[in-house]
Amino acid sequence: MNKFNLVVISGMLAVALTACGNKGGDKTALAGNDVKMLDFVTTQDGTPLVIKPELFDTSQAKQFASTGKNPYIGNTDAETKGKKLFQAYSCTQCHGGDAQGQTGPSLHGPDFHYPKNATNKGMFETIWHGTNNGMGAKGKGLMDPTDASNGLSPDEVLQVIAWIRTHGKITGNE
Ligand code: HEC
Repeated sequence: MNKFNLVVISGMLAVALTACGNKGGDKTALAGNDVKMLDFVTTQDGTPLVIKPELFDTSQAKQFASTGKNPYIGNTDAETKGKKLFQAYSCTQCHGGDAQGQTGPSLHGPDFHYPKNATNKGMFETIWHGTNNGMGAKGKGLMDPTDASNGLSPDEVLQVIAWIRTHGKITGNE
């Protein structure tokens, strides 16, 4: 099937879905595949955290955006990649090589500085947008959380979290 046909078909699908599902004016962001996205909030003060739906660009990231469950939990490939990312993005500098805590807190849980980090949605929001006391967005203040090419993508954050969870007794998907 060529690209043009795909565009036509997905266009028709969108019209059909709008016609039957939408009772008017629902502008809620959709995570690709016309799935409703969760409402993300900042860890700083719980205000809305807007993340462009198109940044959720893998099936795992899309699934997370609509359910809050991290599909990479227990996936050894993702955990291995998550560990490399944790090093590459200097999370180790403040949290230690095994996320055991250094100048920054331990990430092993189950007790967290911010209790919401016991959930994968909460930890995602913390890593994406940072905190007021030393944790920059995506670990560094200089990364632009609206730009997937700048720093970690949502899919990569989920893999980092999957690795972090290997150290604790909770998966965050409870
Ligand atoms: C410059 C040091 C620094 C770097 C780099 C850094 N962090 Fe942090 N992080 C902190 C500090 C300090 C806190 C505690 C923040 C607070 O209390 O507001 C924190 C908090 C956190 C928390 C919440 C912990 C809790 O108990 O609630 C998570 C999760 C986290 N960081 C993950 C990461 C990840 C993943 C990276 C890499 C992408 C990273 N951090 C990079 C300093 C850092």
